[in-house]
Amino acid sequence: MHTDLLSFQFWTAEQAKSILDLAIKIKSSPSKYANTLSGKTVVALFEKPSLRTRVSFDIGINKLGGHMVYVDSQNQPMEEREDPIDVGANLSQWTDAVVARVFSHETLVKLAAGSDIPVINALCDRFHPCQALADYLTLTEADGELKGKTLAYIGDGNNVTHSLLILGILLGVNQTVVTPVGYEINDNIQAFVTELAEKHNVTLSFSSDIEVLNNVDYIYTDTWLSMGDSTPLHHIKDKFMPYQINMALLNKTGARYVMHCQPAHRDLEITGEVMDGECSLLMQQAGNRMHAQNAILAYLVGNVALDD
Ligand code: CP
Ligand code: NVA
Repeated sequence: MHTDLLSFQFWTAEQAKSILDLAIKIKSSPSKYANTLSGKTVVALFEKPSLRTRVSFDIGINKLGGHMVYVDSQNQPMEEREDPIDVGANLSQWTDAVVARVFSHETLVKLAAGSDIPVINALCDRFHPCQALADYLTLTEADGELKGKTLAYIGDGNNVTHSLLILGILLGVNQTVVTPVGYEINDNIQAFVTELAEKHNVTLSFSSDIEVLNNVDYIYTDTWLSMGDSTPLHHIKDKFMPYQINMALLNKTGARYVMHCQPAHRDLEITGEVMDGECSLLMQQAGNRMHAQNAILAYLVGNVALDD
């Protein structure tokens, strides 16, 4: 059994499908899981701001019968005050799990190394696994079986892209990543997902040419400037504007659904018209954050079996 969720990198396809199924079960029968975390506490330690992740974890933990303690680290990254290994060891004395949003993936690795309780990644520079699980739950609800479908991620190659790629491959989703030159995904992760995709018979492609896109089922985008990136918008806007998700792109590609992890910036990476339009799954994605995370918590903290 996995003890942490830093990413889905080392999960099997069967485990990925099972955690998705567990999320569906928890969403449809919440009362069955109302005592899953009874008497248990989860610490949520955040170095960066959050609306969706923080609120959905807090309410979700409550719905599973547990209790969340929020630790605000936004004024000072954890490493500056104390070694994350020691933070993990201290937290293990009181709590049953740690949910952490951090700048550096290395902080999570150290936190997990010092802890003897599960550590769950609530976003770092490299991954956002809770988001990806909620996104594939949303697509499953909207479109049924995902195997063989095609998702196009357009925009900045980042933490969200990486997690969509990894979990999507495990679920059999073909993917195209279109990023401006200089904003591609991390090289090591590209090598990792390329090998993973071959193993799982999934098609991946990477390009900077938005014109190559046609015949995709889903389009996904994210902010052009991630949290902690202080680049002024006007420095990158002209470069990113051709990658905007708008009605013309939807019509050209035939995409049936549009997604964005949010926070979204209307009329920058996505037009308000598309956000509010009938192809938009944005609010379903946000709603499903809680159900996806509750499956992760039930499995890692509540000892619920994946085939429950
Ligand atoms: N999508 C997401 O993680 O949103 P927050 O940054 O508001 O948590
Ligand atoms: N890539 C974005 C995701 C926000 C949920 C960021 O890291 O800020």
